[in-house]
Amino acid sequence: MKIGILGTGRIAKQLGQRWAETGYHLYFGSRTPQKAQELAISISQSARGGSYEEAAAYGDIILLAFPWSAAKDILTQCGNPEGKTVIDCINPLGDDWKSLSFGFTSSAAEEIAKLLPSAHVVKAFNTISDKVIKNGPQFNAQPSTAFYCGDDEDAKKQVAKLISDIGFEPIDCGELKNARYLEPMACLFINIACQGLGSDIAFKLLQRQND
Ligand SMILES: NC(=O)c1ccc[n+]([C@@H]2O[C@H](COP(=O)([O-])OP(=O)(O)OC[C@H]3O[C@@H](n4cnc5c(N)ncnc54)[C@H](OP(=O)(O)O)[C@@H]3O)[C@@H](O)[C@H]2O)c1
Repeated sequence: MKIGILGTGRIAKQLGQRWAETGYHLYFGSRTPQKAQELAISISQSARGGSYEEAAAYGDIILLAFPWSAAKDILTQCGNPEGKTVIDCINPLGDDWKSLSFGFTSSAAEEIAKLLPSAHVVKAFNTISDKVIKNGPQFNAQPSTAFYCGDDEDAKKQVAKLISDIGFEPIDCGELKNARYLEPMACLFINIACQGLGSDIAFKLLQRQND
């Protein structure tokens, strides 16, 4: 399976590292193709790097790993990836980095789906920090939870596998509009982390098993 990773920052690097270890083929995209090539070389012999457009064309699955403020520009460069699964981990943070630009009536994921009408957008990984991906999903022998949502069942199955392949517990949160609840969860995470707990913390959904 080929993954195009749009971005070369913290989340792009950590998810790329884990997926490369699991055997996925990667192509990083950047405003500076050389930066993407250097990151690719540092991660895996088979990984490659180039422009955003090239990375989007390469991937069967595309990860959006850039800030919300850059979304319209980058997605316009990449055209409309027909039938591809697009993973949106973007948190549309306000200028203070602790609040959101969207509330109850839309979400970054839904706005991205409007920009990419032929793609299957799945919200995922937005509630997990790059530090937890780096240090590992297990906390006290339990995997932390990776919540995801989307409107296409096949795309969600692909993303659930990408989640479990790197050791997180996938939890299906239903339709894409439930990103309106996942994005505030990430905002809560950031506020808790900034209060002193740091970002090596994670959400866990607990379920009591019936006797
Ligand atoms: N870090 C986390 O723990 C975390 C967790 C969950 C979700 N996220 C989300 O993941 C996305 C990326 O976060 P990150 O922490 O990886 O950020 P980051 O380390 O700052 O990297 C952001 C990347 O976006 C690209 N980019 C493109 N246009 C940009 C612009 N106009 N301004 C700044 N960067 C631009 C840059 O790549 P090029 O310079 O190569 O183009 C840069 O490497 C964000 O939407 C964030 O909300 C992050």
